[in-house]
Amino acid sequence: LILAGFVVLFLMYYKSLPSHRCPPPLAQPKQWGKRVEFHSTAKRTATTQKKNKPVMLLWMWPGNKRFDLQACDTLFGIDSCHLTDNRSLYSSAHGVLIFHRGINDDLSNLPTSVRPRFQRWIWLNTDSPSNTRRIEGIQGLFNLTLSYRKDADIQVRWPVSFKKKTDEDFVLPTKERLLCWIVDSNVLLTESRESYNYYRELVKHITVDVFFSAEFSKSEDYFLTISSCKFYLSFENSIHRDYITKAFNGPLAAGTVPIVLGPPRLNYEDFVPGTSFIHVNDFSGPAKLPDSNPSCPPGGQQPPYMGPAH
Ligand SMILES: *[C@@H]1O[C@H](CO)[C@@H](O)[C@H](O)[C@H]1NC(C)=O
Ligand SMILES: *[C@@H]1O[C@H](CO)[C@@H](O)[C@H](O)[C@H]1NC(C)=O
Repeated sequence: LILAGFVVLFLMYYKSLPSHRCPPPLAQPKQWGKRVEFHSTAKRTATTQKKNKPVMLLWMWPGNKRFDLQACDTLFGIDSCHLTDNRSLYSSAHGVLIFHRGINDDLSNLPTSVRPRFQRWIWLNTDSPSNTRRIEGIQGLFNLTLSYRKDADIQVRWPVSFKKKTDEDFVLPTKERLLCWIVDSNVLLTESRESYNYYRELVKHITVDVFFSAEFSKSEDYFLTISSCKFYLSFENSIHRDYITKAFNGPLAAGTVPIVLGPPRLNYEDFVPGTSFIHVNDFSGPAKLPDSNPSCPPGGQQPPYMGPAH
């Protein structure tokens, strides 16, 4: 009986504790990758909504690009937190989003007031490690990471979703070109990155239609061009785990088969079916890619045969 009494007392005490240990949830990361329906009818008034929601403070605008803060709700159906850029809400903010590239070298533009006990700083970075500069003194400042990586606390990627069935009225875009590549600038002959080295070897064996991204003022033209090609060189500018960008998603969305150079094939297969792309490592080298049948990729069918160079 005494033991039972202690247990009851303990439980009563425990229940009465304010729950410091569980601050309200931050933005729900899982929702980012999903298609969320837009419900316009169930809107409550903004003021009552804000009251109970955790405040997410965007300390700086990523790349100084502003967007409508309501877009979380209107475009993605996420309305479980109050996203704001109003720094006077700092002391009540549960999360403070800090964009890595925007941090000054001397850390002078980071919050200076005392950090409330419940507050978490979120390290927001969209660049690959090769393109991320080292900033002394930020180690240990952050509580959560937000990036494209699968192992980030909050993962944000360009989502790819798959349909189980092909649309009945799907028409394959007309293919005028065999193999294309869109590059940032005219560094084809001088750049020493792996992707350019590979390209320079590849063009000795097959024609590649190269376009410069500056030529495309509208994203529509960009996608039309990609979809006019059978294959596209989806070469990443640096090679890192999970770093699979729009250079890959773009062609997939446009109905063009990506030929990827980036992390290993298995890493791509974490995100898309293994039969939806060709990996340069499926071949022994750039000379072999145009006119040989690669061995079957793991778990997949024979990938499409590219045909000889014309
Ligand atoms: C920022 O928040 C403070 C405190 O709630 C408020 O007084 C102020 O008007 C807000 N500023 C803007 C620009 O919304
Ligand atoms: C966040 O990290 C800082 C610095 O490491 C730490 O002092 C603080 O207790 C952490 N806050 C939370 C809510 O975990």
